[in-house]
Amino acid sequence: MKRYNIAVVGATGAVGTEMLKVLEEYNLPIDNLKVIASPRSKGKEITFKDQKYTIETIEKGTFEDVDIALFSIGSSNSLKYVPQAVYEGALVIDNSNAYRMDDDVPLIVPEINPEFIKEHNGIIANPNCSTIQMVMALNPIRKKHVINKIIVSTYQAVSGTGQKAVNELRKQSQDYLNNDEVKTEVYPNQIAFNAIPLIDKVNDNGYTEEELKLNRETQKIFNNKEIKVTATAVRIPVFYGHSESIHLEFDIPVDLEEISYLLSNDDNIKLIDNPAENEYPTPLMSEETDQILVGRLRQDLNNEKALEMWVVGNNIRKGAALNAVQIADYVIKNNVIDGGQ
Ligand code: A2P
Repeated sequence: MKRYNIAVVGATGAVGTEMLKVLEEYNLPIDNLKVIASPRSKGKEITFKDQKYTIETIEKGTFEDVDIALFSIGSSNSLKYVPQAVYEGALVIDNSNAYRMDDDVPLIVPEINPEFIKEHNGIIANPNCSTIQMVMALNPIRKKHVINKIIVSTYQAVSGTGQKAVNELRKQSQDYLNNDEVKTEVYPNQIAFNAIPLIDKVNDNGYTEEELKLNRETQKIFNNKEIKVTATAVRIPVFYGHSESIHLEFDIPVDLEEISYLLSNDDNIKLIDNPAENEYPTPLMSEETDQILVGRLRQDLNNEKALEMWVVGNNIRKGAALNAVQIADYVIKNNVIDGGQ
């Protein structure tokens, strides 16, 4: 079997670390592995499959012997380094927002739109974490019914911002409980014991980038410009696991039993919906599973053509690292490394 040279770029970060774990679990046919981070980490060692690897930085020629490069170094760094990786011959799977909406860049959730992977021109984009778990939960429903409108409010974990934010929540929580001074670095406001209703930059129309991603990425992944998404994205003091409260509007009255049936028959989804017994998804539960967790399913009180649901997903795994590795796995198994070039 052919073996591939793989690079993980951002290997010391929250997502990069998980990418290495998922690469181990998926057992991709790796010939050579490169682990890449910033100059701050150069020379440090990482263990992968019981073997030690030394962290490299991006230099001229770094990607010349790389087949697939998994990038998770943020948008501005991706804009700087992804073109080099493509020029040097690597297929890039990029976790940042930099290229997601480019017409010649497929935006992929392998369970939903793998047919677009082969159209890549050297870059495949990994969607935003909050988009991935939402489209995964809606996929079995939208295959049967026309969804006209989605209103979503997110409750997002700090790990989505990166490892520094995880450290900040831990430190602020300790300081706050000890009555010590609480310092803010990563977020503009204290995140411990708080909620911040602003993720990413705010636009002239009042929506944040994170909220607009949910609209445009959902349309691109479902290949449907008619589906309208309006979002409010909120950061909450949770380490791992994003939650979403979702309102769906249809053309026809909702049959909740049928929706339950569709959700519970999708292997990628776990329906946990027995609120009377306190059974519903929570972010802590998402640390233990790669399934998307759905609960609190109910009909809108005032609109028979609408329903409400609660969706929880592991933002670092299915929301980022796992989805990226699944794309790589598809590329390898279907031999589409050269794409549409
Ligand atoms: P480092 O740990 O050396 O700073 P997170 O999303 O958790 O903040 O992680 C970001 C990742 O991106 C880290 O692995 C970080 O490495 C890496 N990174 C940041 N800047 C660069 C760069 N210029 N070149 C390569 N990797 C980078």
